[in-house]
Amino acid sequence: MGKFQVIDHPLIQHKLTIIRDKNCGTKVFREVVNEIAELMAFEVSRDMPLEDIEIETPITKTTQKTLTGKKVAIIPILRAGLGMVDGMLELIPAAKVGHIGMYRDHDSLQPIEYFVKLPSDIAERQLFVVDPMLATGGSAIMAIDALKSRGATAIKFVCLVAAPEGIKALQDAHPDVDIYTAGLDDHLNENGYIVPGLGDAGDRLFGTK
Ligand code: PRP
Ligand code: URA
Repeated sequence: MGKFQVIDHPLIQHKLTIIRDKNCGTKVFREVVNEIAELMAFEVSRDMPLEDIEIETPITKTTQKTLTGKKVAIIPILRAGLGMVDGMLELIPAAKVGHIGMYRDHDSLQPIEYFVKLPSDIAERQLFVVDPMLATGGSAIMAIDALKSRGATAIKFVCLVAAPEGIKALQDAHPDVDIYTAGLDDHLNENGYIVPGLGDAGDRLFGTK
């Protein structure tokens, strides 16, 4: 089973409270989502492999560490995942970015894929799939299905708020995928919204409601 981790650093908890507040407007919501994603990038990249290299400081020759292993791609699930991309890129600026467009049908809650554009070498990359919300898990599962069917093997899922139902569904469907969230919430309501949650992440990011 992949790792499940709540990244509950005090700065992240504080910022998550800011965006949960229904009075938080689009500008601040967008800024703080990116700030949380940047802080999370620090933790989700913790197991990146290092190798020794020889360098010369102004004083002496020395052996030091440098990143090695797989290159990274960040894969936002449209729309709301877009809100986390710039924050992640602050810490991992050389990452490529692939897009998966998916929305939940409001009645059935089933995800519907409408767009996929990925770097050609995703099979060789460490992928960070980002989406603020893990609710039923349907969108994340289908996005990861789409990546695996195109050859992806190293996938981590990063969200801001997760419901227990979504975590279980994603772990059952993709036990090899590590899941990171900033907040672990209580349950889903009858409309498939996370409680207490933060509402519709896409609408709050883009001001569409
Ligand atoms: C939201 C969210 C996730 C999905 C989570 O997207 O950003 O992608 O719902 O729900 P699930 O775990 O039950 O699948 P939405 O369908 O509202 O699309 P949008 O980002 O375009 O607004
Ligand atoms: N999608 C959202 O944007 N919010 C939820 O609470 C659930 C799904």
